[in-house]
Amino acid sequence: MFKKTTKVLFIGIFVLSMMAAPHLNLMPVPKDVKLLQGKFFISSDFGIKVKGPYSTRVALAKKRFMHRLSGRTGIFFLLKPGNFSLKITYSKTIKLAPVMDESYTLKIDSSGIYLQANTDIGILRGLETLLQLLSNDKKHYYFPAVEIKDEPRFPWRGLLIDVVRHFMPIEVLKRNVDALAAVKMNVLHLHLTDDQGFRIECKTFPRLHLIASDGNYYTQEQMRDLIRYADLRGIRIVPEFDIPGHTTSWLVAYPELAALPGPYEMVKIYGAKNPVMDPSNKRVYKFLKKFFKEMAKLFPDPYIHIGGDEVNDVQWKASKRIKKFMKKHKLKDFHQLQAYFNIKVMKILKKYGKKMVGWDEILHPDMPRNIVIQSWRGKKFLYEAAKKGFYTILSNGYYIDLCQPTDFHYLNDPVPEDVKLSPEERNRILGGEATMWAEIISPENIDSRIWPRTAAIAERLWSPSSVKDVEDMYRRLEVISLQLEELGLTHIKNQDMMLRRLAKSGEIIPLKVLVQTVEPLRYYKRHEARTYTIFSPLTRLVDAAVPDPPLPRKFRKLVEKYLETGDKDSEEKIVELLTMWKNNHSSLIPIIESSPVLREVQPLSENLSAVAAIALEALEIKKSGEKPDENWLTLAQQKIERAKKPCAELELLIVEPVEKLIVSTTNK
Ligand code: ACM
Repeated sequence: MFKKTTKVLFIGIFVLSMMAAPHLNLMPVPKDVKLLQGKFFISSDFGIKVKGPYSTRVALAKKRFMHRLSGRTGIFFLLKPGNFSLKITYSKTIKLAPVMDESYTLKIDSSGIYLQANTDIGILRGLETLLQLLSNDKKHYYFPAVEIKDEPRFPWRGLLIDVVRHFMPIEVLKRNVDALAAVKMNVLHLHLTDDQGFRIECKTFPRLHLIASDGNYYTQEQMRDLIRYADLRGIRIVPEFDIPGHTTSWLVAYPELAALPGPYEMVKIYGAKNPVMDPSNKRVYKFLKKFFKEMAKLFPDPYIHIGGDEVNDVQWKASKRIKKFMKKHKLKDFHQLQAYFNIKVMKILKKYGKKMVGWDEILHPDMPRNIVIQSWRGKKFLYEAAKKGFYTILSNGYYIDLCQPTDFHYLNDPVPEDVKLSPEERNRILGGEATMWAEIISPENIDSRIWPRTAAIAERLWSPSSVKDVEDMYRRLEVISLQLEELGLTHIKNQDMMLRRLAKSGEIIPLKVLVQTVEPLRYYKRHEARTYTIFSPLTRLVDAAVPDPPLPRKFRKLVEKYLETGDKDSEEKIVELLTMWKNNHSSLIPIIESSPVLREVQPLSENLSAVAAIALEALEIKKSGEKPDENWLTLAQQKIERAKKPCAELELLIVEPVEKLIVSTTNK
């Protein structure tokens, strides 16, 4: 009897969780979630009790939690002693490490909330889940009764920010650390040096930051503060010093390190450049030894990233001294020369207690197997490295600077089920990093290039591989995106500000209607469209536009549903959107006419209205049951073709569904 009841109850819970779990707004989805019956209502009596060894991380996370909870609910907590709605228990505090215990369990019923973990880091992760569970009915806020057991699939879940091509003030990094913590990522990789700048204070060789930074660099004090800020949120800071290529800034300050005599000038354009360090020069290693000694002290993480990507061999080829050196050391090609250099650098890092991370190109059989290879050129390199015994992380497919759609990144699994790797080889794949290269972003729009898409990458790296429902991901992404604003992220709000600057007015509705239908050119097409330099304006409509905006996706879904089922509700919504778009151009004209910087988007706006008008006509034709007139079809197709062409580095996203509507008029 007892057994039977338990079984029924279990099936009940299972069915309930199957039905209801998709409507939770958790991102990343935890490993194991059971939604139960019941709610814990939040009142002004809400309080937290912590049991475990003292942890500054937990103490401060508790305060942040209370702030965010009161901020969202408007509840004035009374902070009465002895009121403990949330009971937190953990066993130990830990040092951040590439592999650490981040697991936690969270149980909520109508009488209380119980968050347990082995480590204080697990508690931080669990508190983020709890905040994401916050729900409400018409009158009250509550946490739904759940039982969650959670831990990440991959230990290394990061974001690279390039602070060279465009310098990012510390507050930009801090707010992004907060966002990383909110989606349970744990690495901020800082690309600190490149041809266009050297962004960290170096006391041993001060010309590096003084001569080669345009004054835009982090002082060591600022960096220590950032490291502490990130540590308190369970985020490691991995610094990258890209060598021996991508080094013009070093060589401007210290030309004696270069393969060919200088002088060198700071680089103002983009792409891999010729200047490289000289691996045959003993002074280079002496320099790097002192340099890394200082940096190893500043950055507590066990890993230092040495870049190693895109080393241009033009200078090495041109140097007689280097050729002689290669002959003497039996280095048969430049890859071997780079490996020689890397091994020397690896030994320096080892002396200072650090391990090496580098891009694909540092892979070489002579390298020790404790290094980490970051794969940017393709999964082929990821798997090759794992097969050869190296630890690896994936960035190929996570290049968020390329403005590709969220689902593209989301479905990019570092270790898909069908990949032919042994269990040991699979285990060497530690995770991945989204990469925010900064050639065409500024502190104003960087958040909109990172978020919310990176939350989907965070889910890919944390959640079980079976979690891959794209529609549900997009549904939750919208919720999480709004929550990120509470942490100070500017990915949504800065768009209006940028539009006001373009319009020179607070009246931006027509401009907003236009920007919501477009996205910046994908992949490297923007780089190809014109030459960008460090002085190029990043204030145009294309910079205010965001990748994968929600409205065109919703429009496409509505059109698909309407064409499949003839759904009336979808039709009404389609007509509403099309009418708004059709009428938009005439409202935008006066704004464009008063602001020359907007002239480039006039054809785009014309196309939006023209395409919307055709779509409305197509709907009418469809409803009439008549075949469309041949002339109408030809003209419609011409307008569609015109609208498909990029304009002002922007792509109009509603064209494809409209084309489907037109085609459907001919299918009688
Ligand atoms: C890279 O994108 N060159 C690592």
